[in-house]
Amino acid sequence: MPSQTIDLRSDTVTRPTPGMRAAMASAVVGDDVFGEDPTVQELERRIADLLGREAGLFVPSGTMANQIALQLHARHGDEVLVAEGAHCLWYESGAAAAIAGVQLVSIGLDGEVTPDQIQGALRPRVDWCPVTRALVLENTHNRAGGRVIDPSVCHAAVDAAHRAGLTVHVDGARLFNASVALGVPPREVAGEADTVSVCLSKGLGAPVGSVLVGTRDHVRDARRLRKRMGGGMRQVGVLAAAGLYALDHHIARLADDHLAARALAEGLAGCPGLSVVPPDTNIVLVDLRPDGAFDANAFACMARARGILLSVFGEFRLRAVTHLEVSIDDIKTAAGVVRDLMRPVVA
Ligand SMILES: Cc1ncc(COP(=O)(O)O)c(C=O)c1O
Repeated sequence: MPSQTIDLRSDTVTRPTPGMRAAMASAVVGDDVFGEDPTVQELERRIADLLGREAGLFVPSGTMANQIALQLHARHGDEVLVAEGAHCLWYESGAAAAIAGVQLVSIGLDGEVTPDQIQGALRPRVDWCPVTRALVLENTHNRAGGRVIDPSVCHAAVDAAHRAGLTVHVDGARLFNASVALGVPPREVAGEADTVSVCLSKGLGAPVGSVLVGTRDHVRDARRLRKRMGGGMRQVGVLAAAGLYALDHHIARLADDHLAARALAEGLAGCPGLSVVPPDTNIVLVDLRPDGAFDANAFACMARARGILLSVFGEFRLRAVTHLEVSIDDIKTAAGVVRDLMRPVVA
């Protein structure tokens, strides 16, 4: 592999910047399991405010935030509706079944869920059916290519869910990307959902951490669930400081990542043998022709050998994610390599 790689596998690959490291090094800390870490408390307060909620809880990962949310919203044996392709269905190692003990049912298309689809998925209230308890939306939606779910669509879904007696969690791992892309405050993206989680370790560039927000009661119960899952952390202000730094310095710049994603899509436009899903934010999905010379796995291996790292997202689908360590020049290089690799195929 070339010594210089351009890593487009995920926005989770970013390393803390010197400024972020300095903030971490000077963080005031305490034992957060005792509720005594002032930096964690500040981070939780700031994110709760940004999302217009009463309280927040710092957790180690987006996965833990989702799993705590599922346990807040449903009991063992209950059913939870999720927007098609949801992270908690695809990428959490079956934790919804294994830990939260809930059955997930996928509805909607490309991350969008309509009131009719919610209504149509409700189980009859009889002893032999699971109880449909909650709905999980994801914004932006990872498997739909970082798709922004419009606030009006979210609003209609949350409203329909509430009217049907369900509660709603928004997996907002990349909610700040949606906010920047839409040009609306994060709380508008979060809408009226009961709980919302955001990740600090994706586009925001912190090394670790997510925050789950909701009512004070949600957060009190979530603290217990976090401890039960082994997520109680001690002098973790060193990590919360990275999150605070990211809130101050890395939100507005997400627009650069969106520009870079568009530049990649444009750089690949018209390339024979592949098609690109136009990106809303920082995720670009590239589809190889199923009757072409190679599948996504083979293509990712060839690209890796040329220093371009991509994720395999399906048999013929690749994912490229832009982030704060990727420049527009890197994008031009990456697009050039992909085009080059396609050349013998279409010659
Ligand atoms: C939409 C979404 N939710 C949740 C997660 C989980 O985050 P973590 O990797 O911190 O567990 C991810 C991770 O990529 C994600 O894309």
